[in-house]
Amino acid sequence: MKNKVDILVGAQWGDEGKGKVVDTMGPNVDVFVRYQGGANAGHTVIVDGKKVIFKLLPSGMLYPGKLCVIGNGVVVDPEQFLKEVQELRERRQDRACLVVSSLAHVVMPYHKILDKAQEVFRGKGRMIGTTGRGIGPCYVDKYARNGLRVEDLLDADRLREKLSVALEEKNRILTKLYNEKPMSLDEVLTPAVEWGKNLAPYVGNTSELLYDAVESGKRVLLEGAQGVLLDIDHGTYPYVTSSSTSAAGGFTGTGLPLACLDRVIAVVKAYTTRVGEGPMPTEDKGEIGDRLREKGGEFGAVTGRPRRCGWLDMVALRYSMRLNGANVIALTKMDVLTGMKEIKVCTAYERNGTKTDRVDFLVLEEYRPVFETLGGWDEDISACETFESLPAAAQKYVEYIEKGAGAPVQLIGTGPDRNQTINRGL
Ligand code: GDP
Ligand code: IMO
Ligand code: MG
Repeated sequence: MKNKVDILVGAQWGDEGKGKVVDTMGPNVDVFVRYQGGANAGHTVIVDGKKVIFKLLPSGMLYPGKLCVIGNGVVVDPEQFLKEVQELRERRQDRACLVVSSLAHVVMPYHKILDKAQEVFRGKGRMIGTTGRGIGPCYVDKYARNGLRVEDLLDADRLREKLSVALEEKNRILTKLYNEKPMSLDEVLTPAVEWGKNLAPYVGNTSELLYDAVESGKRVLLEGAQGVLLDIDHGTYPYVTSSSTSAAGGFTGTGLPLACLDRVIAVVKAYTTRVGEGPMPTEDKGEIGDRLREKGGEFGAVTGRPRRCGWLDMVALRYSMRLNGANVIALTKMDVLTGMKEIKVCTAYERNGTKTDRVDFLVLEEYRPVFETLGGWDEDISACETFESLPAAAQKYVEYIEKGAGAPVQLIGTGPDRNQTINRGL
């Protein structure tokens, strides 16, 4: 088996700039793959000032002639899928070949209603702050073995049969538990049959397709959604998403064998952001947080919610590097730090007078960050093309991260556009 597969993951709480890094790597990639999550993702790609936000489709869709795959681990919202395809077509950007796994589960309208109803039920203080895209309830059905898969949409008779069973249960839950209106079979079936017809040309056996691609020497890039700290097992549970966002999810979510792994690329934002509820030790609710939000444009690509902002958390980063076995870092949004008098980095947590440099999720809420202060820079770096042309303090910051995280920074983001990137070998 050839080692032709790279996995790219968000190393924090999502929105690290994964879309931009995938797009930047594009020329050296043959196959782009999403392996988990769904339309809760929002991956921004900007080429020549024009912005595209991919929610479900892989961020390589702008490359002509390349293969883009939605793996079995993704939960597919057919409406969103078709909308994104249509939008690309209208802009004449539907140049890649797109295949979606027949085994991927389908986000149905009742999943979205349940997602929102469950948030209301959790109530203030216990809400997760989900994106409302039906992700959690769809994965619940998958693991409860009640889900509908993409292949089920292709056969109207089978769909009717499966959907009527599913709806019987869902309507009881909707009406009796959540005081919602029941859904009629026709109301759900009619659009679902239509989705099936429109999706049919894209559906395939993606695990075989990917295996063959690797065997024939093609380079495959698995594009993680969300971030490691939102991983269902290894994240800040219960304030997480419902899938395996870490590198390991790349295998179950595609059917590729572990033996084909080459690099694990951690996308790290030069500071920290989080959208939704849950602990975030370095969150800054004051001037620094506001400045990072404003300068970094830190508003959700899916929901438009303001992101919580703060300094880089090295404790959390070391944790996520270990968990992913990440051996390369893509450091994004360095330009956002320009103009900061000083830059702080959280190197340890403190609780009840005791310091630790390890993440303990049970008490993460109670941790206070211990900061180390580094020098800032004023020079505009948005046009820098080499590491050497960065101001000395910016170079020091990169080296500090390499040392602390234990992996080389092979890409540095100096602005949102595809070209605003210092590539050191990625
Ligand atoms: P993703 O979910 O990890 O793909 O990240 P998002 O697209 O949700 O959020 C990242 C935001 O930062 C987007 O608006 C990007 O256009 C932008 N971005 C990515 N890299 C850089 C960078 O190096 N500098 C700046 N200023 N913006 C960046
Ligand atoms: P990308 O791929 C940031 C967060 C939500 C919420 C939690 C659960 O763009 O980095 P969900 O709807 O998944 O059940 O919500 O996860 N979340 C994200 N945060 N970036 C994302 O995706 C996210 N996808 C989900 O805000 O806290
Ligand atoms: Mg995003």
